Amino acid sequence: MTDTSSTVYVLNGPNLNLLGLREPDIYGSDTLDDIAGMLEDRAREHGLTIDMRQTNHEGMLVDWLHEAMAESARAVLLNAGAYTHTSIALLDAIRSITVPVIEVHLSDPKTREAFRHLSYVGMAAAKTVEGHGAKSYLIALDAVASREV
Ligand code: DQA
Repeated sequence: MTDTSSTVYVLNGPNLNLLGLREPDIYGSDTLDDIAGMLEDRAREHGLTIDMRQTNHEGMLVDWLHEAMAESARAVLLNAGAYTHTSIALLDAIRSITVPVIEVHLSDPKTREAFRHLSYVGMAAAKTVEGHGAKSYLIALDAVASREV
């Protein structure tokens, strides 16, 4: 698969549509739209384009990962929410595609409840950025722009 596309898929999983309202002490007050705006500005600086999406459905994330390869996306930033810790289907999907995937989390799951310490996404991801709030997404995008992945 070529690496010529400038489109970075930003895929968000369950409950992330409620960012801003949802447990702001953990996830901050930025909404997903706020994060999309920040990413669009940063992407423009890098000559990249982002395609930002959110779903509460596991299979939709699998379909979008496949689509990212079919569309020769440059990379995928994936915040799979709780599916991070449960989904072998996502692990397999990431292993099935040639597009690099960066695992993204607002919080640092490794410092939270024990059930968040296992990451199936992280087993296959090229890189993980976590614990920086909304900035985690920007750090991940910068890593794509600098060809770290
Ligand atoms: C999260 C961390 C997950 O453990 C949690 O289930 C989420 C959000 C984060 O961005 O910090 O939904 O992915």
